[in-house]
Amino acid sequence: MCGIVGYLGKGRALEVILDGLRRLEYRGYDSAGVALVASGKLQVVKSVGKIRDLERRIWALSGEEAYHLGIGHTRWATHGRPNETNAHPHVAGPIALVHNGIIENYLEIRKELELAGYTFQSDTDSEVVAQLVRFYYQGDLFQAMGKAIDRLEGSYALAVISEEEPQVLVGTRKDSPLVLGLGEGEYFLASDVPAILPYTRRIVLLENWDRVVVNPQGVVVVGADGKKVDRPFQEITWSMALAEKAGYKHFMQKEIFEQPRALADTIGAYVSPAKGDIFFPEGELGEGVFSRIVLVACGTSWHAALVGRFWIEAQARVPVDVEVASEFRARNPILDGGTLVIPISQSGETADTLAALRIAHEKGARTLAVCNVVGSSIAREAQGVIYSYAGPEIGVASTKAFVTQMVILYLFSLKLGLVRGMLERGDVSWRLKEVLSLPRKMEEVLSHEEDVSTLARELYHVQDFLYLGRWLNYPIALEGALKLKEISYIHAEGYPGGEMKHGPIALIEEGLPVVAIAPRDVVYEKMVSNVEEVRSRGGQVILVGFSGDPLEQRVDRFLEVPPVDGTLTPFLTVLPLQLLAYYIADKKGCDVDQPRNLAKSVTVE
Ligand code: AGP
Ligand code: GLU
Repeated sequence: MCGIVGYLGKGRALEVILDGLRRLEYRGYDSAGVALVASGKLQVVKSVGKIRDLERRIWALSGEEAYHLGIGHTRWATHGRPNETNAHPHVAGPIALVHNGIIENYLEIRKELELAGYTFQSDTDSEVVAQLVRFYYQGDLFQAMGKAIDRLEGSYALAVISEEEPQVLVGTRKDSPLVLGLGEGEYFLASDVPAILPYTRRIVLLENWDRVVVNPQGVVVVGADGKKVDRPFQEITWSMALAEKAGYKHFMQKEIFEQPRALADTIGAYVSPAKGDIFFPEGELGEGVFSRIVLVACGTSWHAALVGRFWIEAQARVPVDVEVASEFRARNPILDGGTLVIPISQSGETADTLAALRIAHEKGARTLAVCNVVGSSIAREAQGVIYSYAGPEIGVASTKAFVTQMVILYLFSLKLGLVRGMLERGDVSWRLKEVLSLPRKMEEVLSHEEDVSTLARELYHVQDFLYLGRWLNYPIALEGALKLKEISYIHAEGYPGGEMKHGPIALIEEGLPVVAIAPRDVVYEKMVSNVEEVRSRGGQVILVGFSGDPLEQRVDRFLEVPPVDGTLTPFLTVLPLQLLAYYIADKKGCDVDQPRNLAKSVTVE
């Protein structure tokens, strides 16, 4: 997700925009740019890299004069590599535009405009919006933007200016955030409150489909039907520190609650519900003729791989090995042209995973990466890539990237099953319906955060935890344990429930908290046995299960999730575990976003 800033007012557009972009840099930092209007002319400066790289170029502006109108952008690339050409603002004739979001039908519109004689500079979806506004532009920017967005499918927050209307700033939003700030004789648009809080605390939280035009006469907001709507402003009382996390205490907390949106964006990028099919533009599978698939990753991404194995073997009937990258590269793995190696990495920079990818190439294997950062090393070096659309993940403990990695592996398993003739279209259609219901069900789980926070207050002093899961939820037991230990520094182990009797049951003593993940799936009954084994030895059972499970009466604490198809439970069962780790660590006063000894991307071996 990108950061957007817009300004109209007393002549400090450049200062306000640069300052705002710095505060929004956490939303993405692949490239940055500003567009300003002075003396009836657009002036645009863009730079790959961070805001500081842009600032080094700002001198290129002729600018002694004060700038009264401008827009700025810090990019997190989704379509088109992070380079200067793909950087925003995108210019189309007299118009400059910045965009946050994903336009799903951009290729179709681009083709239409090319047939009409339009030429494009970039590979982005956003430039298509700029050219489309220009296509409709006849001197009224607000009207042209309105016509353009009526053609768009996907998500967008826009700020748009024209050198022909030097006192007009327009903006709109759908499924991407945009706020309007009301200053003294100056107006602001921004992706979220932090960018403009130093300049005004009077904020209008624009709603989906709102379109706003700002000019010296004031502000007008209209809804999708073109009728004026009254959007009262709010007096923001947040501190700046709180504002950068949009009101959440930590980035990790914010990212936990962003997961429904991140999942919806990732599903939306690849699934065509109407066609009941899945399209991976940069990760085509060809005939899908692989003798073996190797999923290779580290940490949480390795846990996603462990879940993905079940789906790929079940749906596509291809044998799958899951490898810890550091171990994989230490061996002399047997790979050949029939092997597909899939490195999974949020950052796309993890040294062990990158090394594993290179070994795969040395041994003639095919490669397809799953990454959350466009243009990262692993994404660039792999033969194909499937991006997750989680947006920048700032908290060191991975959350939204994890669930989006899993959904990509699930969609991959369906697509491969189709390509290999193991699945009928009908199979895929109903499974896609279940997948499309996940964001709503995730919201429901997250709505019980208070229950988890209460539990965390009871347990934060405990020294040891055991997490148990089976089948698809064994990796979730591992993930729950990793989340707890990496941010709260409490020792925790994840174990397959079936392994209890082979040793770990010796750990059970009075009061030991044991998190048992037991949704009603094919191994539910066996998990019930685990629960009884633990209870009979005095362990404290924290059950993660479907709402209404009678087992609730027999355990110490119950963290419920709504019922979902047995093969999709990890998307829901992981959420209470993320929250439990978060609230325990917060209660302990740990540095949740930057835990000791850790780094967000382990680019060293
Ligand atoms: C997860 O919470 C940890 N931060 C860590 O295990 C992480 O998953 C691992 O370092 C892999 O990172 P990557 O996905 O960026 O490759
Ligand atoms: N899709 C646009 C691009 O790739 C905006 C990306 C975003 O909002 O993160 O430039």
